[in-house]
Amino acid sequence: MNMSNENLYTNESCGSSAVLRRRDGLTILAIESSCDETSASVCVDGKILSNFIANQTVHEKYGGVVPELASRAHMQNIVPVVDTALKNAGYEVNGIDAIAFTQAPGLIGSLLVGGEFAKSLALALNKPLIAVHHMQAHVLANLIDDPRPNFPFLCLTVSGGHTQIVLCESPTTMKVIGETIDDAAGEAFDKSAKLLGLPYPGGPLVDKYAQQGNPDRFKFPEPKIAGLNFSFSGLKTSILYFLQNAGKSNLFKEEFMATEEEKLSFIENNLADICASIQQRIVTILLNKVKKASLETGITDICLAGGVSANSGLRKDFVEMGKKNHWNTFIPAFQYCTDNAAMIAITGYHKYLAGQFADLTVSSTARAEW
Ligand code: KG4
Ligand code: ZN
Repeated sequence: MNMSNENLYTNESCGSSAVLRRRDGLTILAIESSCDETSASVCVDGKILSNFIANQTVHEKYGGVVPELASRAHMQNIVPVVDTALKNAGYEVNGIDAIAFTQAPGLIGSLLVGGEFAKSLALALNKPLIAVHHMQAHVLANLIDDPRPNFPFLCLTVSGGHTQIVLCESPTTMKVIGETIDDAAGEAFDKSAKLLGLPYPGGPLVDKYAQQGNPDRFKFPEPKIAGLNFSFSGLKTSILYFLQNAGKSNLFKEEFMATEEEKLSFIENNLADICASIQQRIVTILLNKVKKASLETGITDICLAGGVSANSGLRKDFVEMGKKNHWNTFIPAFQYCTDNAAMIAITGYHKYLAGQFADLTVSSTARAEW
């Protein structure tokens, strides 16, 4: 294993040319491919030097991620993405000390592309391999930049596939203390957007229209779920009925059934207020549980993570709730909220320090225990 904290350059012979490579510290190359983003990142001593992401636009016309197309796109992207991340960081591939990759959870075909690539690289370069849990990495995105939370902290992780409250005791010790019993928060945004006729992924569009709307105009019900768990499927149903009635009632009643034309013109004339009202309800469902978790655990360092933490309403209300309740609140930079390899790199860095390595027999899995 190759570790150096010195700032030095080495000249190495590579064929006919001399290769200049830096040896600045513990250098991790990280790969993320759990869903529809192919990403690679280089970090040195926990500092992110590059974070390159290739988005897959091929899914847009299908209204959701098509697993087979996602793995094919990962196969096309993986080599140029890793090359670009190394180049942007100023590193040659043999200048890295370890390779971290997303092992789970996610789409199995997508995970396999990044996983097998990482294993082959580790074997070829004879470097240690670090298997990373995608959801733990979302949480640790909060450790990338200053200000960083103190341990223990709570993290509300909200993505397209997960909604969790995580109690994080150390970079390698965390547990889920609350989670959704049905849809994830990102799904609630995307499914609501679909009902409004907006293209996939609709979450960012709901956010965009909500910024011009009145969040108090329409009242959607808040589910009564015990403990720290969440539920979003009832909200989706109430939005469906509300639109079928062209806003006349939240309750489904045959006599209120609007025609398709009435429904479409109701949406068109009220889009901003509908989006603002839906967003406000999703945000209050999330934040009321975070407040409960803080009261129950006594923990006041609280973070956001995951794609939905890019939502402007959630960010604003989270910070306001933090001020009111004397919390220290943390939100990763925008580029570290949605899927990215920098969060895999920072997690890989902490796992390296803890000596948590994987061997080459490790396999990617669609689901994973914590
Ligand atoms: O974490 P992420 O990038 O991928 C998963 O691991 O799922 O999260 C993607 C989710 C999608 O549901 C997307 O609609 C949602 O995050 N999202 C947003 C916003 N930006 C992304 N939802 C609401 N408002 C946003 N600004
Ligand atoms: Zn994610």
